[in-house]
Amino acid sequence: MGKILITGGAGFIGSHACVEFLEAGFSIVVMDNLSNSKEESIRRIEKITGKTVDFYKADMRDEAAVRTIFEEQDIDAVVHFAGLKAVGESVAKPLEYYENNINGTFVLLKVMREFGCKTIVFSSSATVYGMNNPVPYVEDMPTSATNPYGYTKVMIEQILHDLCVADKDFHVVALRYFNPIGAHKSGLIGEDPNGIPNNLLPYIGQVAVGKLEQLAVFGDDYDTPDGTGVRDYIHVVDLAKGHVSAVNYAMEHEGFMPINLGTGNGISVLEMVHAYEKACGKPLNYRIADRRPGDIASSYANASRAKELLNWEAQETLETMCEDSWRFMQQNPNGL
Ligand code: NAD
Ligand code: UFG
Repeated sequence: MGKILITGGAGFIGSHACVEFLEAGFSIVVMDNLSNSKEESIRRIEKITGKTVDFYKADMRDEAAVRTIFEEQDIDAVVHFAGLKAVGESVAKPLEYYENNINGTFVLLKVMREFGCKTIVFSSSATVYGMNNPVPYVEDMPTSATNPYGYTKVMIEQILHDLCVADKDFHVVALRYFNPIGAHKSGLIGEDPNGIPNNLLPYIGQVAVGKLEQLAVFGDDYDTPDGTGVRDYIHVVDLAKGHVSAVNYAMEHEGFMPINLGTGNGISVLEMVHAYEKACGKPLNYRIADRRPGDIASSYANASRAKELLNWEAQETLETMCEDSWRFMQQNPNGL
């Protein structure tokens, strides 16, 4: 078992991945600047696993800080979650998004190459399928974007692809996540967004716990079975496990490989509302509102490449995703 550097490991998906890597027997080093997370999540990872985490509070754009980590630690592979991720904010602050996500990845890749560490699993997104591909999304469809956040994912995938063409020693997997939700079964780690949530599940959770008044369902006139938007929600622990499989795959395979991590099932906003009502045992206050600009009707994965190459598929159900999310909300009504 090797030593894995996890960038953004204090964040929502990264913290769950830390737990799965530790439980699979890897040792881990976490680098995070805590711009969208708290150090408390590192303590909770240690509490869940009973293992220690080497934590560096550092910014991935700081080349000297990244180099220090590679000097002090014998890193075998990198799992790269660090990045800014709010679509709306990226439209308002494009330079900040390009600078953080793209420049940060450049610095990381340069230092990795310098130290001969050439295996990386990158957090990409279903957003790279853009607006014009038919569902279900298959990895060889053309990629595009509609906002700066999405372009950072498209561009970083291109950079990683080009790097693999130029240097045959690079081993890269780009995992295209669908919609991660849920939380660890312990209720100790979960999604803890700053301010008012943009995403459906944390918003529903805050309505259920009484912090927000009412959910606005963005549109009920889409071309979907009940008119509301359809997404491929995936339990964050399933997603985290996919990273362990992806690192094992990447270690054995050179070149660039994009892989969807989704369930392959589409769930509508109203189906999600009703599933959450069942999990929390009370009705949720919601109203139908206008469509949100930039939203598409349906997004879900063809999940067969992950099954074929990683021997991975999602295990959790809509029911357990809502129950686990609700447990985390109840145990941490004010976040971590
Ligand atoms: P998150 O914000 O909880 O985690 C990202 C972490 O990166 C945070 O802890 C933040 O502090 C850290 N970070 C940001 N910039 C940094 C920098 N310059 N240096 C060091 N650390 C930095 O987000 P998440 O939901 O866990 O997402 C993780 C990754 O997955 C991101 O790259 C995101 O774009 C991608 N992704 C997320 C989703 C989703 O719906 N959550 C969907 C698709 C892809
Ligand atoms: N929705 C509501 N009300 C809300 C929030 C969301 O009705 O308050 C609806 C949306 O219209 C959509 C569904 O719930 O139909 C899911 O919305 P999210 O914001 O949770 O997720 P998205 O699919 O829009 O966005 C996610 C990630 C982005 C990524 C995008 C495309 O959050 O980072 O997938 O892959 F870019």
